[in-house]
Amino acid sequence: MTDTSDPKTYPFVVVSNRLPVDHTIDENGDVKWEHSPGGLVTALEPVMRSNEGAWVGWAGQPDLDVDPFENDGITIVPVPLSAEEVQRYYEGFSNDTLWPLYHDVISPPTYHRVWWEAYVAVNRRFAEKSASVAAEGGVVWVQDYQLQLVPKMLRELRPDLTIGFFDHIPFPPLGIFSQLPWREAILEGLLGADVIGFQRADDASNFSRAVRHLLGYSTTRPYIEVPVDDESAPRSRRGKTVRRVLAKQFPISIDSADWESLSRRPDIQARAREIREGLGNPKTVILGVDRLDYTKGIRHRMKAFGELLSDGRLSVEDATLVQVASPSRERVEAYMALRDEIELTVGRINGDYATMSHTAISYHHHGYPREEMVALYLAADIMLVTALRDGMNLVAKEYVAVRHDNDGVLILSEFAGAADELRSALLVNPHDIGGLKNTIMRAISMPKRDRVTRMRALRRRVLDNDVARWSAKFLQALEDVRPGSSISAIA
Ligand code: G6P
Repeated sequence: MTDTSDPKTYPFVVVSNRLPVDHTIDENGDVKWEHSPGGLVTALEPVMRSNEGAWVGWAGQPDLDVDPFENDGITIVPVPLSAEEVQRYYEGFSNDTLWPLYHDVISPPTYHRVWWEAYVAVNRRFAEKSASVAAEGGVVWVQDYQLQLVPKMLRELRPDLTIGFFDHIPFPPLGIFSQLPWREAILEGLLGADVIGFQRADDASNFSRAVRHLLGYSTTRPYIEVPVDDESAPRSRRGKTVRRVLAKQFPISIDSADWESLSRRPDIQARAREIREGLGNPKTVILGVDRLDYTKGIRHRMKAFGELLSDGRLSVEDATLVQVASPSRERVEAYMALRDEIELTVGRINGDYATMSHTAISYHHHGYPREEMVALYLAADIMLVTALRDGMNLVAKEYVAVRHDNDGVLILSEFAGAADELRSALLVNPHDIGGLKNTIMRAISMPKRDRVTRMRALRRRVLDNDVARWSAKFLQALEDVRPGSSISAIA
């Protein structure tokens, strides 16, 4: 780790709520920087490593003011948050207002004016920090729902910059988005970007519709015309001076080749066999891997599995459900309630159906390193992704990437962004418990030939459209909007 506290600037800056590393203290009281959880970090890290850039974000702990430093080839620029800001901006507005609102109000969103004020103040701090480290004419790529006001704030501070924004989570339909008391400010905040990327075409059209109805701006898909007071700007058909913002889908992916190469390692393959043995060698291993979040439909999948056992269509010798539920947002009430509910359900199902040699649900409230995840994916005959709403769901893509044996069945919720691309999965509506049960049974009895045909098609898609291609496409779109900027050097 080298200290780079001099006011250096960077041609490429990524801004996200969470840094790719979390500040932690080990048992001896020493500071450690650990890899942080979540799809965003997984997706962006390889992009950052291959471009000389800086990453602006929060280190995951309150009241921590650390100078910029270099970690594993990436310059890290921490933004401090007070304990009160963590509570109001992160746990409050980001994860108890926006998160449930943007995920179809599966859990009721809470609206508090003091949370909104903290969100504005913290977004301003992120914008100021980014403005201070971005080189003249540079590119700043802002990430996700926690920072939707940053593009506009940054454009006001630094009109020379090219600004991208990527929304990793769904953008809700107008009827739901309209609940938000600060809906216009959020739309204006996002429109400060030159390019706004979404996971699905539906998200982009929900956004354009909200802009048309709530702000009255013209949209001609995929462009939005934002009125500006600049006589040299181009004119719209109605003769107004406008800035054109591109809003369209750029489905995110994973570093597919890295996942695949891990799956070819003999020690990881041996570990996969060991996992199956540890489970008592059931005929079928079904796997769920999620952050412990109410959007993921973990209860729905447990209900379906529990009913298959109680109906006698499955026994614990036939099938075990392995559920990895990594701890997440543990101080937000909806997450605490969900954990209690899931753990009660696991206890009940295991109490009713487990035998001395076989458990029904093997439940793990941990995150695991990538190697162990690959072994789990290899050990699983069926991957069960039952999200009620999900921006993309990278777990589905990870499972596909490691199955170089072309075997395994992916059951995928049609409400996950990944369903737009992974059409050869068994697509399900997780609210339809009867349908979900039948799909699980269909996956269990699917002939090998059909499994291989489907997995081949899925793999072509995931290996082709990897995270490098995702970022290249996004950066190319920025270059197209602002030709001559320094993006071409990066992309
Ligand atoms: C999702 C969000 C990310 C977030 C991650 C982990 O993937 O899109 O922005 O970082 O969840 O959540 P956390 O609240 O722990 O950062």
